[in-house]
Amino acid sequence: MDTNNIKHEVIESLKTARTAGDIEEIRIREMGKNGRISGLLKSLGELPPEERKTAGKQYNILKTEVEKAIEEHAAAIRLEARNAEILRNKVDISLPVTAGAASRGRIHPLSEVGDELLAIFASMGFGVEQGPDIESEYYNFEALNIADSHPARDMHDTFYLPGNKGLLRTHTSPVQIRAMERLEPPFRFVAPGRTYRRDSDQTHTPMFHQVEGMAVGPDIHLGHLKWTLQHFLETFFETEVELRFRPSYFPFTEPSLEVDVRCERVEGEIRIGTGTDWLEVLGCGMVHPKVLGNCGINPDTFQGFAFGAGIDRLAMLKYGIPDLRSFFDGDVRWIQHYGFVPLHAPTLEGGLAP
Ligand code: PHE
Repeated sequence: MDTNNIKHEVIESLKTARTAGDIEEIRIREMGKNGRISGLLKSLGELPPEERKTAGKQYNILKTEVEKAIEEHAAAIRLEARNAEILRNKVDISLPVTAGAASRGRIHPLSEVGDELLAIFASMGFGVEQGPDIESEYYNFEALNIADSHPARDMHDTFYLPGNKGLLRTHTSPVQIRAMERLEPPFRFVAPGRTYRRDSDQTHTPMFHQVEGMAVGPDIHLGHLKWTLQHFLETFFETEVELRFRPSYFPFTEPSLEVDVRCERVEGEIRIGTGTDWLEVLGCGMVHPKVLGNCGINPDTFQGFAFGAGIDRLAMLKYGIPDLRSFFDGDVRWIQHYGFVPLHAPTLEGGLAP
């Protein structure tokens, strides 16, 4: 039989093959140990030498072409099977969720509060900046005007990486530097993230979270800072709050202030907005001219404010969570109690928390 005919016959039979099994059958029939094409190749030895060369060439071409046709058809069938499988497994997202599945997962209070903060500051036109957890001395201290002799540099506070490989940032303020180096004033942003200090008790964990805020422009003054913080805290606590600004000291701000909110303790719970107690919630100030200068921003042309608040502390206050360490225990009972329903994204319009 002519090799062309064999080829066409195989192609014709492939057309009717529907499954991987059908194809395997054809393969065995042609190329198997006792297959037709294998037989042809075996028969070469019996041909006279003059014919052997041309026949050998022909048979080998036939073999390659048939192999290719079989493989192509097999691939097409595999694809078809996979598409059918995908269609079969289609999820109808319009179906109601089974009650159990919908209520199982919970959003961690820190993620919730982080999202709330971003929603509040986005509404005031603040962008979001980020920086690395592993920082250099320069970004964490030096550029922020924190002298070598400053107690914050003490080994007791800072986690240094072995072999001079940097440190774990002790606050989110290095993000101020990274952002100022890159951005042209005017700009304003918040920078939430993890921070680290050698500290551990009921209100301190070695890893905690801060949110940094910063605004730089030609006419930024303390009034902007005070209004921003007032608006932020009232929106966050969803009540009127009275703030108390106390003079303080940070090397990177001048003047520096600490901010307390009026509160009251009722049966072991803290209530924000009323009472005769004060609770510190953040540190802030006007950006020190040296710090602006360190980042190539002319302090004669531009001023800025900055603040830093503990996100964990804000979450504890707003949601009445007594022990900071419980945030990081990974206890399912705790997250069931303090966690948030996943499908509720906090927005100013829709209410921050359900
Ligand atoms: N980085 C300061 C801290 O961790 C907080 C702060 C930020 C103060 C910005 C002033 C301005 O305590």
